[in-house]
Formats: sequence, structure tokens, C-alpha cells
Amino acid sequence: MADLMAPGTFFWGSASSAFQIEGHLPDDGRGPSKWDVYTHRDRITEAVVGAQYDADTAIDAYDRDRYLADIALMRDAGFDAYRFSISWPRILPRGEGASNQAGIDHYSRFVDDLLAAGIAPLVTLYHWDFPQALHVRGGWHNRDAIAWFADYAAVVFRALGDRAKAFITLNEPYIDLFMMDLIAENVRAGRDPWRMTSADFGRQAPAMHNMLTAHAHAVAGFRPAVPDGTIGVALPLYPTIPVDPASAEDVAAAQLTDGLLNRWPLDAVLRGTYPDDVTAALRRHNADFVVPDADLAVMKANPVDFVGINFYSPAYVRRDDNHPLGLGWGNQETNPDTVKAFNGPVRPEALHGLLLRLRDEYGNPPVAITETGAGFGDFDEVMEGDIVKDPLRTDYVTRHVEATLKARAEGADVRGFLVWSLFDNFEWIQGYERRFGMVHVDFAAQKRTPKQSFYAFRDIVAANRG
Ligand code: FCB
Repeated sequence: MADLMAPGTFFWGSASSAFQIEGHLPDDGRGPSKWDVYTHRDRITEAVVGAQYDADTAIDAYDRDRYLADIALMRDAGFDAYRFSISWPRILPRGEGASNQAGIDHYSRFVDDLLAAGIAPLVTLYHWDFPQALHVRGGWHNRDAIAWFADYAAVVFRALGDRAKAFITLNEPYIDLFMMDLIAENVRAGRDPWRMTSADFGRQAPAMHNMLTAHAHAVAGFRPAVPDGTIGVALPLYPTIPVDPASAEDVAAAQLTDGLLNRWPLDAVLRGTYPDDVTAALRRHNADFVVPDADLAVMKANPVDFVGINFYSPAYVRRDDNHPLGLGWGNQETNPDTVKAFNGPVRPEALHGLLLRLRDEYGNPPVAITETGAGFGDFDEVMEGDIVKDPLRTDYVTRHVEATLKARAEGADVRGFLVWSLFDNFEWIQGYERRFGMVHVDFAAQKRTPKQSFYAFRDIVAANRG
């Protein structure tokens, strides 16, 4: 199997995560994750979208017969790579301590099955399903989480590193903490799920720091464990755009938001530093937020081999004192003509600009698009015979591929493109109401039907194969 991140190569495929697709939560000795609790005890989807969903079945991808058929579809689409995540509580049911051989065997078999189909695994260690046994001990807020994660990572490297060579430590650390945990906390407390204050943001900052430090320790452990492998992180990067470019307040707000969302994790994983404006802003809301020099030293000593970019949309920002840190950011696109997907306005040129920015401001590190994709609603999911018509998603994927390849032609060191996602799946707080797949899933019957975007992407892959 060729090295996924080898210079000059380019891989195509899709991304998923364990909790969103696997189902079979109690099987083979898996322990509970915080998401089992959010969906059952906290009923978070009900509080946010008015209907109760869980991922007990999801798209049944833990089942080997099912996933072998799914791998056959990947092969049909011409995939070089498949990004999936390992469920930490399947490997360590209590999060630490004794490992669970049945869980390890499952992923080991899955890696073998992918390789047998000629598809390279890109393994995410953490995609939000934190073990509940450790979550109740403070989760990422507990400094012990740094060692918990590094120890878990070491078990996975040992089990899979002889065959899987490309890893991602964390998926979207910022979103996990600032959205999911805060929403769940609000739901539990009976508050408006979306209510977030500056104090909340400040309070989450040490947990974000623990994640970035845990990431660096995992990278350190990876080097001797898988000396011929590559490791990165998947960051949600949002180019920020002031809602009113003539307003100095909006411009300043966009700059600070850029710091929080983009520069903070990028500086951490590539340079081992934090941006001063970000640390100062967070400290204004949490005087206890201190960054030990020793942690930054570990980050500096362990930069990533590549940055995984999860890109959906730019963030439109204005000064707004009702929002955390006075930053109103989100999907407030003012142009009514721009098509809006679930995750924001469709602006592929923002992805192009982002790739050039990494080239110019960060010394052109190897990067890969580790997620990009869209959903629009039922009007873009129309079943016609044995195909689902999704012209807007098809257009989204096509134009984001173009933007990526344009930046690559202009010298950005981008090495792969993964769509979120191949299949419709469990979309966190929105449950099954938001479809992102290039293959339609009838959740009751578990029937897969390729969409128009699947065939379009297959054509793109075939046309661009070197
Ligand atoms: C990303 C998440 C992924 C999925 C997509 C739509 O932020 O990483 O799990 O939910 O959004």
C-alpha cells in the first residue's frame, strides 16, 4: 500500500466516525461513551431539534457483512483512502486500564478488509465518543486526560500500526468542547441549548489546552511506535469574514474569531505556540487560564506531519455583545443569492483562500482535506427510480474539488480530498434529520442507494487519477 501522505501523491475518499455509523453499542464489551449518555439520559437531540434520536443502530457499520458491502461501494467509487475513527470505549471500556481484545480485533479485521480492497486506512483516534467512565471524572477538563489519551493512543498504535500507517489524533477539538459539551450541559440544566456566555468560553479554554497537549503527547508516542507512519490532526478551519467590512468593530471581531478558530490550533500543532490575542481574550474571561511552558515545549517538539482540514463554510463575524467574547459568528451571510447548506453558505473560494494562506503563512505544510461536504434538506434528496437526485450536493462537491486542485496547482501542498460523507448517518445533535451522504441510507431498512453526487464524485476521481 502506497504511503498516503507521500510527497507528490494525491488521495481520494471519504470520512466517517465511529459513533455516527457503527451502532451495536453494547456489543463485544464496548463501554459507554459520553454520547450514549447525551442521547439517552440527556435527550439532547430532543431538546435541540424536537425529536429523540440515538445512535443505537446508526447505519449498522459495526456489522462485518454490512461493512464489506460498504467497502465494495468505496471500491466502486475508486477510493484510495477511507478515514474512520476508532471508538475509544471499544478499545478501553473504562477509558483506561484493561484493554478489550474483541474491540481491538474488530478494528484490526476492518483494517485488513480495507487493505484487501486496495483502500488505505486513515485512522482517527478520537472523534468525540469520550469514554463515560472518564467523562464523569471531568473529561478533557481533567489534566489526567492528557495521559489517558496518550495511553489509549499507544494501545491503538501497537495494535494497528504494523498495517495502518496514517493517523489523526483528534477530530475538531474546538467543536467537541465548545459546541457539543456546552450544548449538552445546557440541556442537562434545562437552559436554552444554544445559550453560551463569555464565561463558558473562558471555562472551556483549559480543556482545549488539555486536548492540544494530549495531541502532542500522542504524536510523541507515535514516532517510535510507527516509525514509517504519518500523523496529523483534523481541524475545523473557518476563514472569517467581517459582516460589515467597513466596520472596525466587525473587522476586529473577525480577527479575534480567526484567532480562536484557526490560529490557535494551527499555531499549536505546527509551531508549539499560542497566539497572544487569543490567550489574552480567554484570560479576560477566566483568570485561571494559564498555559504551562512545559506543555508548549511538548507541542513544539512534536509538530504534525500534516494538517487535516475540515472545511464546510466561512464564518461571518460581527461584534455582538450578546455572544460569547462579544463575537457573533456563524452563518450570517448577507448575500441572499448565496446558496446555504446546513453548515453555512457555499463558498468554495474560501477553501481556495484557506489553502493559499497555509502555503503563505505557515510555511506550506502538507495538508489534506479530511472533511468537506454538505446537506441542504429534503428538496435536495429526491428519489427518482434507483437514484437519488442531489444536484446541490453534487455542485458543492464538484466546486470544492476544483478549489482544492486550483490551490494545489498554485503550489499549496495538498495531498488528498475526503468527502463527508459516503453515507447518510447520525448527525450528532440533529440526529437523522441532516443527510450528508453521497449514498442515501433508508435508516429503517438499512438500504443504501447511491445519489447523483456519488456518480459525479466517481467520475471526478477517475478523471483525476494520475
Ligand atoms: C463535522 C464533524 C462530523 C460531521 C460533519 C457534518 O464538524 O466532524 O462528525 O458531523 O461536521
